[in-house]
Amino acid sequence: MEAQEWILEIQNIEVRYHEVILVLKGVSIKVPRGGIIALLGANGAGKSTTLKAVSGLLKTEDGEVTDGGILYEGEYIHHERASVIARKGIVQVIEGRRVFEHLTVEENLKVGAHLRKTGTVKERLELVYHYFPRLKEKRNEIAGFVSGGEQQMTVVGRALMTEPKLVLLDEPSMGLAPKLIHEIFNIITKLNKEQKISILLVEQNAKLALNVAPYAYVMETGRIVMDDTSEKLKQNEDIKDFYLGLTDKGSRKSFREVKHYKRRKRWLT
Ligand SMILES: Nc1ncnc2c1ncn2[C@@H]1O[C@H](COP(=O)(O)OP(=O)(O)OP(=O)(O)O)[C@@H](O)[C@H]1O
Ligand SMILES: [Mg+2]
Repeated sequence: MEAQEWILEIQNIEVRYHEVILVLKGVSIKVPRGGIIALLGANGAGKSTTLKAVSGLLKTEDGEVTDGGILYEGEYIHHERASVIARKGIVQVIEGRRVFEHLTVEENLKVGAHLRKTGTVKERLELVYHYFPRLKEKRNEIAGFVSGGEQQMTVVGRALMTEPKLVLLDEPSMGLAPKLIHEIFNIITKLNKEQKISILLVEQNAKLALNVAPYAYVMETGRIVMDDTSEKLKQNEDIKDFYLGLTDKGSRKSFREVKHYKRRKRWLT
């Protein structure tokens, strides 16, 4: 691909918290313009840290990109403040669907509106309600009291209010019922296709992620251990073992343990 076809290039980044805790060790990920890329990995692998490095939110947690770089639309952004990065069209939907609980659903959406580049707040709201008709129904309800799925829709809707070019989505399926997950992912796919929004999707639900994104990266303890088309990853024995649970023999091993175990087995035979 030509360089300009990538909206985001994470180039070999190293990330530290509090100057000493090394969490990401040489992570490289590319997101094509208008594409969806999935980032898979177990708990604590560094997925959220990767997204925070891109959005700049890392700095609010005393984290820093200490090596490598993050190229977005031809510009290095890894030393920029989160507010500057947000104005460039990158929005992160953080994990755990944090709504402003005391505000109504619509007030929550309006929070994202000041970052939009075109149109009125009302037009932007109409666009959000077009994709999330449920939110229109709940617009005057207090966000803290709507269902988990509706809260997740609210935070994705709030991201959409900013008129983003790139959305960093952190575990949108977490804790939701299968039917709702399906509904939310349908909308996300539509937003990608119709609004041409590029998406970097972090998911622990690998099956879901590999169905939505055509290409994925697998992260383990701060490193990318594999990246390939989702079709190929679905066929990969280690991915099947650990992430898809297709050959589950009981205890859930780490991805690396699965690999080591296989290597050992090969060596023994
Ligand atoms: N603010 C912080 N200060 C120090 N260490 C942190 C901080 N945030 C995360 N870490 C550490 O960095 C590592 C990666 O965390 P991160 O949240 O990026 O993982 P993750 O892949 O998103 O995990 P999960 O699936 O649980 O959300 C973990 O070991 C975590 O303890
Ligand atoms: Mg996380």
